[in-house]
Amino acid sequence: MKVAILSGSVYGTAEEVARHAQEILKDAGFNAWHNPRATLADVQAFAPDAFLAVTSTTGMGELPDNLMPLYLAIRDQLPAAWRGLPGAVIGLGDASYGDTFCGGGEQMCELFAELGIREVLPMLRLDASESVTPEADAEPWLGELVAALRG
Ligand SMILES: Cc1cc2nc3c(=O)[nH]c(=O)nc-3n(C[C@H](O)[C@H](O)[C@H](O)COP(=O)(O)O)c2cc1C
Repeated sequence: MKVAILSGSVYGTAEEVARHAQEILKDAGFNAWHNPRATLADVQAFAPDAFLAVTSTTGMGELPDNLMPLYLAIRDQLPAAWRGLPGAVIGLGDASYGDTFCGGGEQMCELFAELGIREVLPMLRLDASESVTPEADAEPWLGELVAALRG
């Protein structure tokens, strides 16, 4: 199974989590692909069977700049081939931002819903005000993701 990992990051934390997720998915036997600067054409060329989005939140609940072009291209085109595919989202944020906590991840969940991507797990929220080990914190959830994708 081919899993496309889409990541958005300002300072690199979400990108590290995405890379860690890629390793875990590879170790579990998946063909996990991750390019932090992926274009829509790159993702379509990979022809994914499943999606994982890993994104931090910036500004007032916004997506990082490096994910915006891909986010907008996907939202404009809503590729029909992805309808019904499984997917899940890891959102990074900081609960001290209040209402906008993990707003970037929430935008990716909404995009997946528009695309008809089936969320196989509720979004994992990684809170920078609670923990400085987001990669390790994601491991149990990634184990559940592996199980959900194996069906
Ligand atoms: C300028 C700035 C704005 C932020 N805005 C939000 C926000 O609105 N909501 C939130 O949950 N976290 C917010 N954060 C926290 C980051 O999302 C969090 O620290 C995350 O772990 C950073 O990951 P990154 O290194 O991949 O960018 C903000 C951080 C900065 C520096």
